[in-house]
Amino acid sequence: LAVKPLAGKRVVITAGPTREPLDPVRFVSNRSSGKMGYALAATAAELGAAVTLVSGPTALPDPVAVDTVRVETAEEMLDAVQERAADADLFVGCAAVSDHKPAERLDRKRKGKGGFALELTPNPDILAAVAALDNGPVTLGFAAETHDALAHGREKRAAKGADWLAVNDVTEADAGFEADTNRVTLLGPDGEETLPFGTKHEVARALLARIAPRLA
Ligand code: C5P
Repeated sequence: LAVKPLAGKRVVITAGPTREPLDPVRFVSNRSSGKMGYALAATAAELGAAVTLVSGPTALPDPVAVDTVRVETAEEMLDAVQERAADADLFVGCAAVSDHKPAERLDRKRKGKGGFALELTPNPDILAAVAALDNGPVTLGFAAETHDALAHGREKRAAKGADWLAVNDVTEADAGFEADTNRVTLLGPDGEETLPFGTKHEVARALLARIAPRLA
């Protein structure tokens, strides 16, 4: 009989970028492919969890045996997560949520070829909101850094109140955005561990193998 370490557990995962519209045809976004979050969703399902994947726009197919909810903006992602996170055992914030959105969203396509200043306002922090829930799920966040990755990761884990934080340096060609492989250091309640380099599926298995035994 196969052992399913996440049997009976509910897992909610965010993945991909968000898109923050300026007008009906233009948006602010980022380079996230969604691969790490989709690998986590597929792996959690293989390990027996009931998985909901709340995904921004990606080119990836819905993972097998995962309830996939497609959203566009950070606000939509927050709403979809808030409907589902309170009942979850584990929340994984793997999305590259746009930290900012255009202050104004035009109903019609912006006209004119001249330069213009774009005012951005902050988006809600989804991971911090879930981490702040009373009796909420265990939380795993990600930090994609371009320098001083560990120091920024430690600060981020504390600032957001996440139980676990996986840090990676996205300037390395074989890690982070768009790559099929990843190299992460996991910061958690028991300390810090650099996980073996591998495909995003292998890294997903390594992350969940460490966190699954720590779920209530
Ligand atoms: O602050 P930063 O964007 O680097 O934090 C990354 C972590 O926080 C990721 O886990 C990401 O999914 C989450 N996050 C979020 N909502 C935001 C910004 C980041 O959930 N608005």
